[in-house]
Amino acid sequence: MRAYKSKVVSPIQLPERDERAANLERAGYNVFELDSEGVYVDLLTDSGTGTMSESQWAALMKGDESYAGSTSFERLQEAISDVMGFERIVPAHQGRGAENVLYGALVSEGDYVPNNTHFDTTRAHVTNAGGEPVDCPLDASVEGIESGEEGENRNFAGDLDVEKVRELAAEVGAERIPAVVVTLTNNSLAGQPVSVENVRRAREVADELDAVFVIDACRFAENAFFVRERDPAFADASVAEVAREQLSSADAVVMSGKKDGLVNVGGFVGIGDDPALDGLYDRARERGILFEGFTTYGGMAGRDLEAMAVGLREAVEERYVADRVGQVQRLGDMLAERDVPVVRPTGGHAVYVDAAAFLPEIPAEQFPGQALVCELYREGGVRGVELGSFAFPDTDRPELVRLALPRRTYGADHLEHVAETFESVAERRDAGEISGLEIVEEPGMAELRHFSAELRPVAEREATTAD
Ligand code: F0G
Repeated sequence: MRAYKSKVVSPIQLPERDERAANLERAGYNVFELDSEGVYVDLLTDSGTGTMSESQWAALMKGDESYAGSTSFERLQEAISDVMGFERIVPAHQGRGAENVLYGALVSEGDYVPNNTHFDTTRAHVTNAGGEPVDCPLDASVEGIESGEEGENRNFAGDLDVEKVRELAAEVGAERIPAVVVTLTNNSLAGQPVSVENVRRAREVADELDAVFVIDACRFAENAFFVRERDPAFADASVAEVAREQLSSADAVVMSGKKDGLVNVGGFVGIGDDPALDGLYDRARERGILFEGFTTYGGMAGRDLEAMAVGLREAVEERYVADRVGQVQRLGDMLAERDVPVVRPTGGHAVYVDAAAFLPEIPAEQFPGQALVCELYREGGVRGVELGSFAFPDTDRPELVRLALPRRTYGADHLEHVAETFESVAERRDAGEISGLEIVEEPGMAELRHFSAELRPVAEREATTAD
């Protein structure tokens, strides 16, 4: 049962196959370079791409655009305090702005930052601040993804391996670890959730190391939903209660409002009221003013602050989050029924496909994930994103393709179209028609190459060389 009906609509269309093939070539086989007009079902990201509610649109009109002391900021502060439990806020234009504010204040040259798994912008900001990001997922979770394993032992596959954090401290010295980070849900590890128990143990290890315990709370509401569904200790709690409990372990949260803030833009850092965190708050506030804007708007318009204040409250409503996670699970089921190797259980915001298993003929150095992303666009105008060796060079990640569902946006027939598109791609695969890819041009930072690199099909070059 769906919890919403549409009030405002956006027209979309599926261009002809020839046109899609031409678009792909023009985009250098990089779907970040495609015009959205040529995309039929856009599953590139769930970030800032969702549909706002009528209450959010109504709240926009109340935006107080004052530079300082905006009442909209007060309303946002109240919402963050009620929903997440943080009163000291540094607003930012989006998640990575908040990351720049926080990690720039926390991390110095030569530091190490453990995280259950860094998202790409988090990795880049830790590196930019002079630190070394260290991923500490559970080995069993990574192996589970590769072997396609499912079941109860994968209930909280997003967890941080706290022993790896202790080992890192033994190796580099606790004084070189300014922060321990847990990302809810674990976006780079198939959107898998993290248990409340794990967050409590992460807090303990941060205390042992005298480090600040940070939660990247981008998808905190989806994570809380999974906890309630899977941990008997929380079976009778509301999603809102679980969220508060889980976030209460953190010294600080870093948040992209474009996810569980249910808005198109915005973010913030929240810092706990422990006096030991006063210095961190002061530094973060200063960096906020320097990079984002004054403390009562931080790169957002007053109306954006209002929309996020409403969105945060909606994100923990039972009907919202059940509808949201349920839709993602349905897409996962539809693909699994068609023998597409999807990571199970399905994550909260996206279905992750094991591209190495789906396209076994394409070797890792020819980016099977990116090849699949390109095929999905050519065959059905569907845009997903590669999160494997193309997006994360020099790390040992599984070759995943992510299909992220924008919130409250698509319906069952869109999901059906995605499933049918996979059938067409499978037919082409079986006919041996899918080529691997190679990079032609790779500008800038390695961490960000998937946003702008240009590729070409290996088969095309081989054909030209043979001529
Ligand atoms: N942290 C996590 C876990 C994220 O998933 C993202 C963004 C950010 C931080 C940065 O937030 O985009 O507002 O600057 N993830 C998006 C994605 C882009 O597609 O998963 P942002």
